[in-house]
Amino acid sequence: MNDTPGLFLTFEGIDFTGKSTISKKVVELLHKAGYRVHWTREPGGSALAENIRNVIINGEMDKTTEAMLFAAARNDHYQNTVLPRLHNGEIVISDRFYASSYVYQGVVADNLDTVKELHRLIGNPTPDHTFLITVTLAALAERMKNREGHNRLDDYALNNLTKMSTGFLQYTQEHDNCTTVSNDGLVDTAIYACLSKINTLIKQKGITL
Ligand code: TYD
Repeated sequence: MNDTPGLFLTFEGIDFTGKSTISKKVVELLHKAGYRVHWTREPGGSALAENIRNVIINGEMDKTTEAMLFAAARNDHYQNTVLPRLHNGEIVISDRFYASSYVYQGVVADNLDTVKELHRLIGNPTPDHTFLITVTLAALAERMKNREGHNRLDDYALNNLTKMSTGFLQYTQEHDNCTTVSNDGLVDTAIYACLSKINTLIKQKGITL
């Protein structure tokens, strides 16, 4: 648990697993229940980090530059968007966070030591809990091929599905406080599984309405 009165939750997974739909629905339901809750996303989530996002998505660069830009964006996002709200006792839900760098820039790009070192340099910001949303690789490949607009990071994901899946599994084995939620069935089932765990975390952390 982080040492603020707030609750910091992250949703992770390969592109097209439905994690954004799930995280947004979870935020909507918590908001309806009366909690102070904020949805955010990476790369981005703060003014500077959104600018860095454009640089990363539209540019070509070597793997260490890319890892550094993601870490810089994360630092600004965490310091300016996440942390103030946690100090204020709110629930913050981020669609992607460090696990994405661990997998994409670390495991897949074979640059994990650098990614870990960069994370240490920005102070090891750590979620209270991470939800890893999974879908079978066959279903994912199908969804990715049928997508409409796509950018260079989407293409990268399609070409590296197996490594990504292994990378996320490795992340959950190396870090405490992770729950893997399958989104192969009804999306409402996945949403309910996340909410049930979040209710426990809310009680543990003493989050009030
Ligand atoms: P985005 O369009 O936001 O996709 P998604 O809806 O899947 O989150 O693009 C984010 C892309 O950036 C996605 O392919 C994953 C990648 N990414 C990294 O490579 N490293 C990171 O640290 C983060 C946060 C994202």
